[in-house]
Amino acid sequence: MEVVHVELGARRYPIYVGAGCLSELGTRLGEMGCGVRMAVVTNSTVAGHYLEPALVSLRRAGFDPATIQIPDGEEHKNLAMLSRIYDQLIEAGIERSGALVALGGGVVGDLTGFAAATYLRGVACVQVPTTLLAQVDSSIGGKTGVNHVLGKNLIGAFSQPRFVLADVETLRTLPPRELTAGLAEVIKYGVILDAPLFALLEDRIADVQALDRELLVEVVRRCCAIKASVVSADETESGLRAVLNFGHTVGHGIESITGYTRYLHGEAVAIGMVAAARVSRQLGLCGEPDVERVRSVLARCGLPTEVPAELRGEALARAMRADKKARAGAIKFVCLETIGTTRFERLSPEDIVKYL
Ligand code: NAD
Ligand code: GLY
Repeated sequence: MEVVHVELGARRYPIYVGAGCLSELGTRLGEMGCGVRMAVVTNSTVAGHYLEPALVSLRRAGFDPATIQIPDGEEHKNLAMLSRIYDQLIEAGIERSGALVALGGGVVGDLTGFAAATYLRGVACVQVPTTLLAQVDSSIGGKTGVNHVLGKNLIGAFSQPRFVLADVETLRTLPPRELTAGLAEVIKYGVILDAPLFALLEDRIADVQALDRELLVEVVRRCCAIKASVVSADETESGLRAVLNFGHTVGHGIESITGYTRYLHGEAVAIGMVAAARVSRQLGLCGEPDVERVRSVLARCGLPTEVPAELRGEALARAMRADKKARAGAIKFVCLETIGTTRFERLSPEDIVKYL
C-alpha cells in the first residue's frame, strides 16, 4: 500500500492508496484512535458492494459500527438528507469520540464530511472513496457540504478528514461512464502540474481504463500526491488551490445551463479543459500542439471535448457570471502555458465565450 500525506501541521493526515486495502479499514481506524461506537455512512448502491467488507473489517478491529444508508444520487446531497443523518447518528448513540466513515463517491463524502464537521460540534471523519473522482479529488482537502436549491455546494465547511483510504479494487464495479468521467480529473492533474503524469496517460490511457491494477495504484497515488501538495500549500483556496479549477469555469457553466442532467461533472470538465486551452491559445499563452495534446487524450478516453453549438454565447456567459467564484464580473481563469504549467488570468465571461 502507498501512503502520501496532506501536510497541515497538527491536522496532518495520510492518504492510503492500494489494491484490496478496504480490508484494512478497521486496523487504520484503530491506529487513529476513536470510540468503539462509530458509524459508516454509505448509499444504497455502494452498500451492495462494499458495506459488508467494511463492517467485517471494523468489527474485527473491535469497533461497533452503526450503518446509515442514504439513497443514491446528487439530488439527495441537501439539508434534508443531512438532517436525517443527524437523526440517525443521535439514535445510534454516536458520541464525540465516535468517527464517521464515508463509504462511497463524492456525494456520500461531501455529505458525511459536513455531518462530521457539525454533529456535536465536530467528530472525526474518515473518507473511503469508491469512485475515481472521489479517490483523486473530493475525498482529499476537506471541502464538505451540501447543495442549496439556488446552487451547488453553497452550504458547507472546510473540515479535513483524519485519513483517506482509497482501494482501487472498488473501481471494478464502477459504471464505465463514471470511471471515464473521473479520468478527466486525473488528466487535469497532469495538465496543470505534472507533465510526466500527462505523458504516462497519453501512453497508457487504455490500460488505465482497463483497470490495470499496478498502473491504477500508481496513477491514483500520483494524483493524490498532487492534490495533497496543493491543499498543504493553500487549504482554504486563497491562492494556489484555485489551479484545481482548470477547466471548471466553462465546465460548471455547461453543467448549469444543461440542468446537471446532460453531462457528468468530469465530462463537463473535459469540455472545459479544452475550452481553457483554446482560450489560452487565443491569448498567446500556449501553443496549438499543447491544445491538441489535451484534446486528443480526452477524446481517446471517450470524453466530450467540444462545447455544443447550442450552448455557446450569452447563456454560457451568464452561467459563468453567476458562478460563486466570479468576482465583480471577472473570473480568475486558469490558463495553460505548457503541459504541466498554468497561470491565472482575470477574464470576463464575455472574453471567455469569445475565445472558445
Ligand atoms: P457520486 O458520489 O454520485 O457517485 C457516482 C455514482 O457511482 C453513484 O451512483 C454511486 O452510487 C456510484 N458508485 C460509487 N462508487 C461505486 C462503486 N465502487 N461501484 C459502483 N457504483 C459506485 O459521484 P462522484 O462523481 O463520486 O462525486 C460527485 C460529487 O462530488 C458532487 O456532489 C461534487 O459536488 C462533489 N465533489 C466534491 C469535491 C470536494 O472537493 N469536496 C470535489 C469534486 C467533486
Ligand atoms: N475540487 C477542487 C478542490 O478541492 O479545491
